[in-house]
Amino acid sequence: MAKEIKVQIILGSTRQGRYGEKVFKWINDLASKRKDFKVESIDLKDWNIPFLNDPMPPSMGKYSDTIVQKWAKKIEEADAYLIVTPEYNHGYSAVLKNALDVIYKEWTNKPITFVSYGGYVGGSRAVEQLRQVAVELQMAPIREAVFIPMIWQAFDENGKLKGEEDYNKRAESMLNQLIWWAKALKEARSKTK
Ligand SMILES: Cc1cc2nc3c(=O)[nH]c(=O)nc-3n(C[C@H](O)[C@H](O)[C@H](O)COP(=O)(O)O)c2cc1C
Repeated sequence: MAKEIKVQIILGSTRQGRYGEKVFKWINDLASKRKDFKVESIDLKDWNIPFLNDPMPPSMGKYSDTIVQKWAKKIEEADAYLIVTPEYNHGYSAVLKNALDVIYKEWTNKPITFVSYGGYVGGSRAVEQLRQVAVELQMAPIREAVFIPMIWQAFDENGKLKGEEDYNKRAESMLNQLIWWAKALKEARSKTK
């Protein structure tokens, strides 16, 4: 029974010198310690997904590009998603939007949550927008998320998240909720296939 749920943690920032890597490492290390699900780390920088170019909408399920086909297979494997997102101009990154848009059914009927970071509001505006996108993809965005403000001051010189104990508590609670939904929706999907 253990490890039956698979969570993909996706890093949605790809620029040189990104702070996202520190956040990604923190949440991956924390989530990987859990015994009630399996974690897979996905860095969008490793994927180079081309901009959406198919003549038919991805919701039709036909992806002509080979990288997009591989991406669809990878995303299909998971039961839940945790996206690590920066905030760019009150939204999220273009590379993340494209990764979400190029496929469709592989995301549907699965829960999603977010760890965001940025300036004073910790990337929360990016998360609000991402929740709307998730609904359109027929996903279940959950309530709990983690927001890390003032990202350039959030980690010490050893790469440790300042105030880690509090953040860990919030992250564990978020993961509990994510796994609750992952199990419930996995069961529901198995009955409707
Ligand atoms: C193009 C751009 C726009 C930004 N806009 C915002 C913003 O609207 N709100 C905010 O809190 N931070 C904003 N920031 C600051 C980022 O949140 C911060 O630079 C963060 O480190 C970005 O994530 P990354 O380092 O993983 O790319 C912006 C940064 C960039 C590069």
